[in-house]
Amino acid sequence: MHIDLFLHPAPLNRLPLENKSVVVIDVLRFCTTVCTALKAGARGVIPTDGPGEAGEMRVKIGADTAVVAGERNGIKLESFKFGNSPLEFTPDAVGGKYLIMTTTNGTEIFTRAYKASSVFACALVNISKVAERLAKEDLDLIIICSGQEGSFSIEDTICGGMLINLLMTRHNRNITINDAGSLALLLFESNKDAIKQTIYQGEHARFLASIGFERDVDVSSEIDAVPVLPVLRDGRLVLEEN
Ligand code: MLT
Repeated sequence: MHIDLFLHPAPLNRLPLENKSVVVIDVLRFCTTVCTALKAGARGVIPTDGPGEAGEMRVKIGADTAVVAGERNGIKLESFKFGNSPLEFTPDAVGGKYLIMTTTNGTEIFTRAYKASSVFACALVNISKVAERLAKEDLDLIIICSGQEGSFSIEDTICGGMLINLLMTRHNRNITINDAGSLALLLFESNKDAIKQTIYQGEHARFLASIGFERDVDVSSEIDAVPVLPVLRDGRLVLEEN
């Protein structure tokens, strides 16, 4: 298996995605939110490019079965029902509903990845589920770290490194990796006993804590706390059994 990891959003429209698995990582917070909402019974999470597209999609699906959620600079968008805090997405809030989302970094990547054989949402809270499925598929893999506004982020990189590590050690896959993948692996291996502390060294975690979302960083750092597998089907992230 060959793995190309990108430290920030890759030009997905220019990469050959056919016969490859794609994993999009956004630990803080979109992919953690997706896992939480699906576990809470949401029918699907629909990533969109912006607030306008989210609103149009809600009209298309029907206001009684769809709710809009999203943030810019960490803060809930005005007129949207929810922001992007995983803690908001309880069974009462989203059970049986489609969640239409737009976020600063994470959602747009999913709207560009549809040509791949399969596209999964990965965070620390569901990392073992994703690794298990990738090992089963055994296809070449592209890992996209969402990062922060086009730049590298420590939490997505350490998660990417852990995913590669799981494929190599727990699933015994023979793997070749690009240099960014080696860097991510090194980051994970040197900090594997202090993942949460490493995440808190990052700009994004410090920013979220500074605007009152410290608890989000805590829940997003819990490995395998929400063991679900979100896969992109027809533009919707839905639950898939391993
Ligand atoms: C994003 O996708 O940009 C993030 O999830 C940002 C955040 O809400 O922390």
